[in-house]
Amino acid sequence: MALWGGRFSEDPQADVARLSESISYDKRLYLHDIMGSKAHVAMLAKQKIIPEATALAIRAELDEIGKRITAGNFKFDIAMEDIHMHIESALIARLGPEGARVHSARSRNDQVALDIRLYLRDAIDRIIHGIRLFQKALVERAAADPRVIMPGFTHMQHAQVVLFAHHLLAYVEMLDRDAERLTGCRKRLNVMPLGSGALAGSTLPIDRQAVCDELKFQRITRNSMDAVADRDFAMELLSDLAIFGVHVSRLSEDIVLWSSQEFGFIELGDAFCTGSSLMPQKKNPDVAELSRGKCARLCGDLTSLLVLCKGLPLTYNRDLQEDKEQIFDAVDTAELILKVYPAMIGSMAVRADRMREAASDPALMATDVAEELVKLGVPFRDAHHRVGAFVKYCREHGKQLNETTLEEMQITIPEATAAFLKLFSPEESVAKRDIPGGTGYAQVASELARWQEVLKAMI
Ligand code: ARG
Repeated sequence: MALWGGRFSEDPQADVARLSESISYDKRLYLHDIMGSKAHVAMLAKQKIIPEATALAIRAELDEIGKRITAGNFKFDIAMEDIHMHIESALIARLGPEGARVHSARSRNDQVALDIRLYLRDAIDRIIHGIRLFQKALVERAAADPRVIMPGFTHMQHAQVVLFAHHLLAYVEMLDRDAERLTGCRKRLNVMPLGSGALAGSTLPIDRQAVCDELKFQRITRNSMDAVADRDFAMELLSDLAIFGVHVSRLSEDIVLWSSQEFGFIELGDAFCTGSSLMPQKKNPDVAELSRGKCARLCGDLTSLLVLCKGLPLTYNRDLQEDKEQIFDAVDTAELILKVYPAMIGSMAVRADRMREAASDPALMATDVAEELVKLGVPFRDAHHRVGAFVKYCREHGKQLNETTLEEMQITIPEATAAFLKLFSPEESVAKRDIPGGTGYAQVASELARWQEVLKAMI
């Protein structure tokens, strides 16, 4: 008979047990469930709701159960539904009626809310740490080649010359926002729900603040109905992880393109690629592709959770049990990506010659010519028009922008001087973008140094 079976005369049908169970996936909460129960019974004893000796026995037995589960010596059975029931019934099996005192002033509704918060607090700490290491790998890769030049793209078209390091640092910024979002999520999640009971609190004289302090939460929840119904923290986390996934996916797309024969900008380490079962010459960027693909799971996990919660009336509804697989999948997926990606970035060999060659198209410096005219007092829109006409002239005469004489240039750009013929060096073009946030050598060098300092203090 189930622990809740008092008013029932039949056990659930076999398939109902399969539908009801969550032990197959929520067993991973066992350490956090035990941690919560230990804090709870210590408080119950302090408040004289249960005898001190019982609290001591329960706490010791909870540790034993934890050791057994860790060692793989614990029998799980779907008839026992979830991790909370498993641990409670193991306690009762060992301690008899004294063990049954553990659930005083508690419901599985506030218990599960507590367990997920405890579990996710640790998971978020690990993920933030992983993101910092990911940033470090990007900064190190960028710092190893701080002056390598490449074409920057808009609309997937050659746009202007940039430093490769500047491109990588763009992802460092994205990851920084990811870590900040997760830090904010952790703060809002760090609130203690136990004592909310099934939904309305308890008639027993519990001390919720004592449990809060013991478990190092920032404060206790203020509304018992909200506390058992709330999964905002999980929606927020999954949303943060979906955005992180989008960032990884975008970087992956860059990496896939860069390692193609057409670009040939980089080569990934063999350990991060696979071959084709058919074509012997192939070296496929599978880690980047799969990480791009994993982003779909992260977005899917968020969508499932949002849809799960959208129509639920207050307070706890059993549907909420279905939150866990999405939560765990998103955490596992993010952690897996973070285990692999930094090392792949470290394995990336940069083909500076190919990047430089692609950046040598003088058309990439067309904006520089227009800005030179602005320096001479020409309004930008007129300057843009003149340079556009110059580009057209060059196309029509089968010339690159740096292949005309000054006289030819002056047909469309009357203000042009001899200095204008020298505006087509990619290196100069980069060097001149010497404003904060720009791709100038000095700017990028100082950003690299700044990130190195910032990350050193964090990791
Ligand atoms: N396994 C359940 C869940 O994850 C625990 C809470 C069950 N509460 C209940 N009243 N049946 O949501």
